[in-house]
Amino acid sequence: MTEALIFELSAPGRRGASLPEADLPMQNPSSYLPAGLLRKDAPELPETSEIDTVRHFTRLSRMNHGVDVGFYPLGSCTMKYNPKVNEEVAALPGFSAIHPYEPAELTQGALELMYRLEESLCEITGMKRFTLQPAAGAHGEYTGLLIIKAYHASRNEGTTRRKIVVPDSAHGTNPASAAVCGFDIVKVESNERGGVDLAALRKLMGPDIAGLMLTNPNTLGLFDENIAEIADIIHEAGGLLYYDGANTNAIMGISRPGDMGFDVVHLNLHKTFATPHGGGGPGSGPVGVKEHLVPFLPYPLVGKDAQSNYYFEEKNALSIGKVKAFYGNFGVLVKAFAYILTQGHELKEVSELAVLNANYVLARLKSHFDLPYDRICMHEFVLSGKRQKKNFGVSTLDMAKRLLDFGYHAPTVYFPLIVDEAMMIEPTETESIETLDEFSEAMIRIAEESEANPENLHAAPTTTPVGRLDEVGAARNPVLKWTAAK
Ligand SMILES: Cc1ncc(COP(=O)(O)O)c(C=O)c1O
Repeated sequence: MTEALIFELSAPGRRGASLPEADLPMQNPSSYLPAGLLRKDAPELPETSEIDTVRHFTRLSRMNHGVDVGFYPLGSCTMKYNPKVNEEVAALPGFSAIHPYEPAELTQGALELMYRLEESLCEITGMKRFTLQPAAGAHGEYTGLLIIKAYHASRNEGTTRRKIVVPDSAHGTNPASAAVCGFDIVKVESNERGGVDLAALRKLMGPDIAGLMLTNPNTLGLFDENIAEIADIIHEAGGLLYYDGANTNAIMGISRPGDMGFDVVHLNLHKTFATPHGGGGPGSGPVGVKEHLVPFLPYPLVGKDAQSNYYFEEKNALSIGKVKAFYGNFGVLVKAFAYILTQGHELKEVSELAVLNANYVLARLKSHFDLPYDRICMHEFVLSGKRQKKNFGVSTLDMAKRLLDFGYHAPTVYFPLIVDEAMMIEPTETESIETLDEFSEAMIRIAEESEANPENLHAAPTTTPVGRLDEVGAARNPVLKWTAAK
């Protein structure tokens, strides 16, 4: 198998397509472009035949790992299988070929989809209304925090309520979004069960608290049993509760952030509601709010009149404005709605299986690694490679790289930050017991190898197209451009 770049396959004059001679006279570019903008030399583009081009990109596609290729237990990312029917539905011309400037009379189907998706998300989360605009989870956080800010400002507390509390187990985007919104971030410690330390939380309360951002289950894969009390503490201090719903895959049909006491929530449609992600494709992070925050939502929202016609609602004077052009990443909305409809009333079963699968793998692995919080987990769990590091000098990174040799994507490693040598494993609901067993056996073999043959792990991966990379070097001195050898 050739490792060549497409540029290296290039031969002068070789073509993948032949175009007919132009039947119009060619104008000299200098007659319509300023001289300073004209290139002096022809661009160095690869010149390859069609078959070499096809082989090149097919080869590259096979070097990649994806959910359609193998198990992908990347904790916190919910790399579940995305049913292909969702893609087909999103590609229907009635959805894919409409233009956002088309009038509502001509796009009733698309508006109905947005309206009914919003209704479904309200039902799943216990919220009053949702905006579908934000393009990702972090974008949803930013939107939700702007709403919290606008709410406090409307009560003349905008300048005093400046602090957002974030647990030490939080996803990095939480404090980052709060900082971008101009809040001060205050960290609250976790207790010995991996939940928020209530005493520490109480100490932070005061007239300057704007709110708390929480993921429940949190990034340790643990449900915070004290959520009702946490909500009371924040509300009594005059703050609002923000739910980072990136982990909704664990709770659908079982518990709702709205019932837990949250005021604002974002969902990651590209995780829980099955849109492929991980390669930088479009995402969607809708934000839902309770009744008291509805006036602050971005506009427009989709309404339905007495004749069942769908329309864009007028802007509310308190709205934070728009957070994205038009109405959000519409294709992702279509896929999410298709996913919800095809699951019917079985969304609860999705979450039950996600939790069952995670607990199954946890039970198989827990005696082979350290387990910082020994509890029933939700849809994911966090192991620690401390034992392997201390006794045999094998790091979590070594073990993650070795997993690639077995054909698996590695778990999320070194996150959450409060667990040393963390390995965060999220199997998702779509995997069979055979896959879970094979993965568990690979992990156990790696634990045994770290004692018997640590060198094997330091050298891993050895069977992948690319071996161990200098990740620090790549981050510090990235080479982002190919230059022809002179
Ligand atoms: C817990 C949690 N919160 C927020 C996010 C941010 O979501 P996004 O990557 O769509 O911005 C993630 C993403 O993985 C997450 O796991």
